[in-house]
Amino acid sequence: MDAQEPRLKPRLFLTRRIPDPGLVLIREAFAVTGGEEDRPLERASLLRGVVGADALLCLLTETIDGTVMDAAGPRLRVISNMAVGVDNVDVAAATARGILVTNTPGVLTDATADLTWALILSTVRRVAEGDRMVREGRFELWSPFMLLGRAVAGSTLGVVGMGRIGRAVARRAAGWDMRVIYTRNSGPLPADQTPPGVRWDFRAGLDELLGEADIVSLHVPLLPETRHLIGARELGLMRPGSYLINTARGPVVDEAALVVALKSGRLAGAGLDVYEREPELALGLAGLPNVTLLPHLGSATIETRGRMAELAALNAIAAARGEPVPHLVNPEALCQEVLRS
Ligand code: DGY
Repeated sequence: MDAQEPRLKPRLFLTRRIPDPGLVLIREAFAVTGGEEDRPLERASLLRGVVGADALLCLLTETIDGTVMDAAGPRLRVISNMAVGVDNVDVAAATARGILVTNTPGVLTDATADLTWALILSTVRRVAEGDRMVREGRFELWSPFMLLGRAVAGSTLGVVGMGRIGRAVARRAAGWDMRVIYTRNSGPLPADQTPPGVRWDFRAGLDELLGEADIVSLHVPLLPETRHLIGARELGLMRPGSYLINTARGPVVDEAALVVALKSGRLAGAGLDVYEREPELALGLAGLPNVTLLPHLGSATIETRGRMAELAALNAIAAARGEPVPHLVNPEALCQEVLRS
């Protein structure tokens, strides 16, 4: 090759526009196609656009399955998901094809924990209901009985899943003098992962936690074993008058069963950022006054979205160059990759 001839850049297909910190990086490293617009990509456009790509940078709004991987063809080396959750990617299918899957953990922990707390306070203190009352001209004057919530301070928070986000939510509970109980698949947290001066009590079973907590907050990834983790039976085990908060993934909760539990008054309220069939809501959910409903805003800060885009770009770049990948979800794919090459 002539020394003056520009080296061909690997090709990256971007499914949707991402914030500039990531965009600048991928444009330097790759020949980028796609991603001109900020809207979900139609399946047919995804299958067309990915053909011949070395890297795919996608978001949680696209389903990346074996069909997409096969449409891309044998050059595809990495699927870089701009999210911490990878339930939109068929990781097993990628591993079998020797394709690396990467995600963006860590950078959205605080943003998601903050939003969890916004939902806790909004739901328990009926903030969204109050907002609607004022806007709709129904606020007449102060009343000793108007929109009474419950005390957050001193109550018991049950954290289901004590990963990064669960721990960040639990840390914030110290500000409200709350008792924290938690479940965790791998047993109690080691002492060095518990901040000094707080007491978080491990519960071996979910049922036990549900019967004890005033506010239950979900922080598990969506896996086959966590789908409908909270169904009619589990809702029936929750304390009467307690609250359910979900900033994890919608299908972790059986949304139809939740509507029944909320209507019956067994639960005092729910705060949801995610839904079982996003963006659709279960029948009856939107009509309930005692729910706070947000449009999947967990990581929605300018800083966090910028960092997520940057990490997704760095993951894709490292994988394309054959360098160690910062956030690899399926290290087993490396063996397949070697066999493939
Ligand atoms: C994630 O990264 O998985 C979040 O749901 C995005 O907000």
